[in-house]
Amino acid sequence: MVTCMSVFFWFVFLLSLSCYSSFCLAADRFTSGEILRDGDNITSKGGNFVMGFFSPMGTSKRYLGIWYGDVAVKTVVWVANREKPVHDKNGTYSIDKIGNLVVKNGHGNLLWSSNVSVETRNSTACLNDDGNLVMLNNDRDATRLNRVLWESFLNPTDTFLPGMRVFIETQGEERRVFSSWRNESDPSPGRYRMGVDPRGAPQIVIWNGQDRRWRSGYFDGVEFTGVPNVTRSTFFSGFKINNEDDGRLSFIYAVSNISSFVRFQITVTGNELQQRWNKDKRQWNTLQSRPVGGCDLYNFCGNFAKCDKEECFCLEGFEPRVPQQWHAGNRKGGCVRKTELQCRSNSNVARNDSAKSDGFWALQNVKLPDYADIANVNIEECKTKCLNACSCNAYAFVRGINCMTWRDELVDIEHFEEGGNTLYVRLDPSEFGKKTRTIKIVVISALVPLAIAVMVAVWLVCRYRARKRESKRTNEIPKNHVVKSGEFSELSEPCDLNAEGHQGNGSELPFFSFSMVATATDDFSLANKLGQGGFGPVYKGRLPCGQEVAVKRLSQKSGQGDEQFKNEITLIAKLQHRNLVRLVGCCVEGEEKMLIYEYMPNKSLDTFLFVTARKTQLNWRKRFNIIEGIARGLLYLHRDSRLRIIHRDLKASNILLDEEMNPKISDFGMARIFGGNQNEANTNRVVGTYGYMAPEYAMEGLFSGKSDVYSFGILLLEIICGRRNTGFRTEEHSGIIGYAWEKWHEGSPLDLVDRSIWDGCQQDEALRCIHLALLCVQDFAVHRPNMSSVVLMLETDKVRLPLPRQPTYTSMSRSVDEDVWHGNQDLPSSNNVTVSVLIGR
Ligand SMILES: *[C@@H]1O[C@H](CO)[C@@H](O)[C@H](O)[C@H]1NC(C)=O
Ligand SMILES: *[C@@H]1O[C@H](CO)[C@@H](O)[C@H](O)[C@H]1NC(C)=O
Ligand SMILES: *[C@@H]1O[C@H](CO)[C@@H](O)[C@H](O)[C@H]1NC(C)=O
Ligand SMILES: *[C@@H]1O[C@H](CO)[C@@H](O)[C@H](O)[C@H]1NC(C)=O
Ligand SMILES: *[C@@H]1O[C@H](CO)[C@@H](O)[C@H](O)[C@H]1NC(C)=O
Ligand SMILES: *[C@@H]1O[C@H](CO)[C@@H](O)[C@H](O)[C@H]1NC(C)=O
Ligand SMILES: *[C@@H]1O[C@H](CO)[C@@H](O)[C@H](O)[C@H]1NC(C)=O
Ligand SMILES: *[C@@H]1O[C@H](CO)[C@@H](O)[C@H](O)[C@H]1NC(C)=O
Repeated sequence: MVTCMSVFFWFVFLLSLSCYSSFCLAADRFTSGEILRDGDNITSKGGNFVMGFFSPMGTSKRYLGIWYGDVAVKTVVWVANREKPVHDKNGTYSIDKIGNLVVKNGHGNLLWSSNVSVETRNSTACLNDDGNLVMLNNDRDATRLNRVLWESFLNPTDTFLPGMRVFIETQGEERRVFSSWRNESDPSPGRYRMGVDPRGAPQIVIWNGQDRRWRSGYFDGVEFTGVPNVTRSTFFSGFKINNEDDGRLSFIYAVSNISSFVRFQITVTGNELQQRWNKDKRQWNTLQSRPVGGCDLYNFCGNFAKCDKEECFCLEGFEPRVPQQWHAGNRKGGCVRKTELQCRSNSNVARNDSAKSDGFWALQNVKLPDYADIANVNIEECKTKCLNACSCNAYAFVRGINCMTWRDELVDIEHFEEGGNTLYVRLDPSEFGKKTRTIKIVVISALVPLAIAVMVAVWLVCRYRARKRESKRTNEIPKNHVVKSGEFSELSEPCDLNAEGHQGNGSELPFFSFSMVATATDDFSLANKLGQGGFGPVYKGRLPCGQEVAVKRLSQKSGQGDEQFKNEITLIAKLQHRNLVRLVGCCVEGEEKMLIYEYMPNKSLDTFLFVTARKTQLNWRKRFNIIEGIARGLLYLHRDSRLRIIHRDLKASNILLDEEMNPKISDFGMARIFGGNQNEANTNRVVGTYGYMAPEYAMEGLFSGKSDVYSFGILLLEIICGRRNTGFRTEEHSGIIGYAWEKWHEGSPLDLVDRSIWDGCQQDEALRCIHLALLCVQDFAVHRPNMSSVVLMLETDKVRLPLPRQPTYTSMSRSVDEDVWHGNQDLPSSNNVTVSVLIGR
């Protein structure tokens, strides 16, 4: 046992040694006893950073600092002896006897010390490739070897670098971590500080002396709410809150590649400057510099006022505290309530009831005020919470932060063109009374003539229509809309009807005779068979008029009587959308039930996506178009159609493509046709396809629109990767989700994109799709977005996507990718399958 343990420790020791030597090579470190002089530089392993003595612009004084190695413009990111320069070139730096990094002048006087907390006889200073100078213990005792004694990242000067952590204690004090240089030639601490205020939700603040100069607005996990369009984090880069091993939280800025130099600096003029090095142009590109303009300056307009395009306005229900001053342009006094809240008035009588009737004025697209209190309640409770506390002046509910309330003055409100949040400002009910009364008068006086105009217009339109109908009727040869039996003379009709888009007009769906369908499909010949779907074989057919159709011959009993079946089909035929396959007609004769669809020459999505020779025909643009089309079609089924259909079997082979590769969802409404009677003995049915089925549906038979969203997520990943979900099961991943999550988590989601379409791939769109897909395949239905959010997220990059949760049920895709519609087969999970949801009936 003992030997076992010691072997283990030796192993750990050797392992750490090997790691150590691979990270810290001779040129990037120095150890106790070595003395380095002015001109001796330390270079990080990859050459990103260099440490040594330098002189700032316009002075000969020498400072020990760290600068970018590969950047033509000397850019210093850290300075040791900021306040005590060496006045000649005889300065040295070394590690002293107790393990401090020290800077001395030529006389051996101490100018700066790192002040390590633990004394160490033998240590190493190593400059890492991210710019962090770390002091490591060289102790022979394995447990203390390489323990970090000190690091420059925890003792920064004016620059925040990717990988640097700024610790936040949620209930703690603000931390003024960074300080500007005094001027370009003097690195000693100047007037400006930058750091984090962790109270409420963390935000970045710049101080000028003791006063706030600028703040970023609260961080909601993805972006700083007060700088809406600039600081948004993408999936793998940007600001993040990090859970440290010791349970503390820290702010970090992550980049996908530390060789792409990004830095944040508090400049000598008090601005937060974000720059990125442009290797080709050999210059720093400024990504942002804050504050910009007056409105960005802290509380530019004073309390209870908002700043909009450099102009100040009192909030609704407020007026200038000192009007003369305000109108003369001195905003410092801010604004005050026109009507004091009654709960704050002196009379006790009024107090109890009044508070409940206070109203809230919604102020949209603003930077929320400073000094919020946070509570973890929902939006309704948030409002109640504010009403119940007389001191509460406003509340807001922000995704990622939750309920925020303000007790004191509302400070530093900026109005944005777009972005920002909605602030609900509490006002006395009388303020609303005034407002509505004036509005009412305006509205009424405006409405009366308008109403008259509308009535006249409606009357004119009706008359026009009635006339048109009349004239049409006289021109039309009266015809029966329904084809009764196989008289071929009548067979030209369905084509005409289709050409006119007849189904949507509420008239009946053409019913074809069996013999006619048989003729059209050459007696269901094998040559005409297009495929075998979950509900039966599909044949290509040609109507006598020449129109090509796809005939789906339903192989199972629908569980419905003919009349009911016809009714269902007629309803489904009324679903019309450019991303749904159009039902042309149907055939019901005895046991035979067939659906006749428009024919899609390009067959289904899977015949392109998963076939090496054809997949390049779907370039990124087309794929994105397909994704959008599917989403819109699904949204129509879920929300906009009269029936509110849940598809239940969305997958690549159910997406058909027209000549222009526009997607059309097929097989919708099947669950409705077949799910009609669940009491029948042989209907142990789970509609759907394993691998596409949401966990709650596959395991518990529960389904909703959100289970379609799940299938959509899988489909999205397949379209992006150009590979079948099932194709991943042979590898170490249980499915496409596991694989996607891994890539996402590693910070390389773009690895997912099908290499054969990499050229011309819009990376931002691809990233958004991947992000969205991961949101759609989350384990719990409640966490998934609904289709209207999906469409919104797809169509605009303005929408902030929440971070997805790690999916854990991915390994449940146990069977092969094959339709699961086996009426006569007992599936373990199929007994408690519920009927398809028929909401809007
Ligand atoms: C160290 O860096 C300084 C400042 O960039 C430079 O002047 C000097 O030549 C470098 N020393 C060596 C040995 O490269
Ligand atoms: C610094 O070094 C120079 C020669 O490199 C020498 O002349 C000078 O006296 C030294 N100064 C001090 C203070 O040691
Ligand atoms: C180290 O300690 C000395 C003495 O307490 C102090 O003057 C100096 O500012 C400290 N240095 C740093 C970098 O904190
Ligand atoms: C520090 O430790 C290393 C090995 O751990 C050794 O090679 C070196 O001589 C030691 N230096 C001092 C000053 O003790
Ligand atoms: C920088 O500040 C120092 C004093 O802190 C002053 O002596 C020097 O002239 C200033 N330099 C410039 C360029 O403003
Ligand atoms: C960001 O928003 C500001 C106004 O808030 C606007 O002037 C600027 O153009 C926007 N930038 C981008 C990249 O959308
Ligand atoms: C990081 O960027 C550098 C320079 O642009 C490049 O050479 C390197 O391959 C990149 N590394 C990764 C992992 O992308
Ligand atoms: C107001 O409510 C408090 C308790 O909520 C009660 O003690 C007090 O008597 C009430 N005052 C009036 C004037 O109704």
